[in-house]
Amino acid sequence: MRVLGIESSCDETGLALYDTASGLLGDALHSQVDLHTTYGGVVPELASRDHSRRLLPLLEGLLKEAQLTLDDLNGIAYTAGPGLMGALLVGATFGRSLAFSLGIPALAVHHMEGHLLAPLLEPEPPAFPFVALLVSGGHTLLVDVEGIGRYHPLGESIDDAAGEAFDKTAKLLGLPYPGGPHLAALAETADPTRVARYRFPRPMVDRPGLDFSFSGLKTSVLTATRRAEEAGRLDDAERAAIAAAFEEAVVDTLVTKAERALAQQKRERLVIAGGVSANSRLRAALAERLPPLGARAFLARPALCTDNGAMIAFAGACRLQAGEQTGLEIGARPRWPLAELEPIAHG
Ligand code: KG4
Ligand code: ZN
Repeated sequence: MRVLGIESSCDETGLALYDTASGLLGDALHSQVDLHTTYGGVVPELASRDHSRRLLPLLEGLLKEAQLTLDDLNGIAYTAGPGLMGALLVGATFGRSLAFSLGIPALAVHHMEGHLLAPLLEPEPPAFPFVALLVSGGHTLLVDVEGIGRYHPLGESIDDAAGEAFDKTAKLLGLPYPGGPHLAALAETADPTRVARYRFPRPMVDRPGLDFSFSGLKTSVLTATRRAEEAGRLDDAERAAIAAAFEEAVVDTLVTKAERALAQQKRERLVIAGGVSANSRLRAALAERLPPLGARAFLARPALCTDNGAMIAFAGACRLQAGEQTGLEIGARPRWPLAELEPIAHG
């Protein structure tokens, strides 16, 4: 079965073709970074308009590159939530209508299920069950995963998401949108002796439970940055040190909670997905800390950690292949709890 996946929940227009027999046939992505950068963040109306401008040319390019035509498609999967209402509706309208015109099934995909399953696109996919840590711009979630659609929430952020903490901290350090990758790049340049002068809190690590909180950490960074500024030492090297110490605190918090979740659920496989899972320090910390515990981390390649069409094509293909499909109504859900998803027939 050949499935077209469409992602348009935020600031990337992503399309991909996934074949259940031969894997990923191609993918195309347009990032709206240049469009939103002057505003320091995503402007929802501009995002929607840009998605509608990009979808058709991206689809044409994707089909051409894969040497396929619309008639070769057997199903269409589109992100229906969570995300920005307008942006979601553009992809949903496009995907649902195209499927109707071709007489093939369509499926509304949960964006976070897309992220969660993305590591299954890699050559060594994790077997079920596993614990998943989902870290994106809008969500920080720990979930026990027994199969596709069998998700049991273990913990979540009570305030900012991990990616949001990266973005807000980057902003206060004077870095452009999108903050996460910029902050990570700056942190790479830090001098370890300067980094050692900062030790930011590991929020909620001392308390039992699997919830996260990142807003206090952001405030600590703000205080430290102000102090450095007042002391006249807030140059680029000091900013890099603060960025690295912040990154260390987030990574340590995420890995500590993930380890705790693995122990609690008696699992040995950890899936980490979502934009923040592209972070190289997080990837390095997992590779170092999990094996001594008899556990292993499964991550998608960085391009499949951030928003993309491939993960939507894949999640959609799994469910379409099991016979699921969405009706003719065109709908989107800006808020959509992951736990509301139903298990697939053979999940
Ligand atoms: O999953 P994603 O692409 O979009 C959402 O579903 O939100 O995640 C975007 C988030 C942003 O907050 C971005 O700053 C963060 O992921 N991010 C990173 C890195 N790459 C993306 N954060 C830290 N380090 C990175 N390398
Ligand atoms: Zn995402």
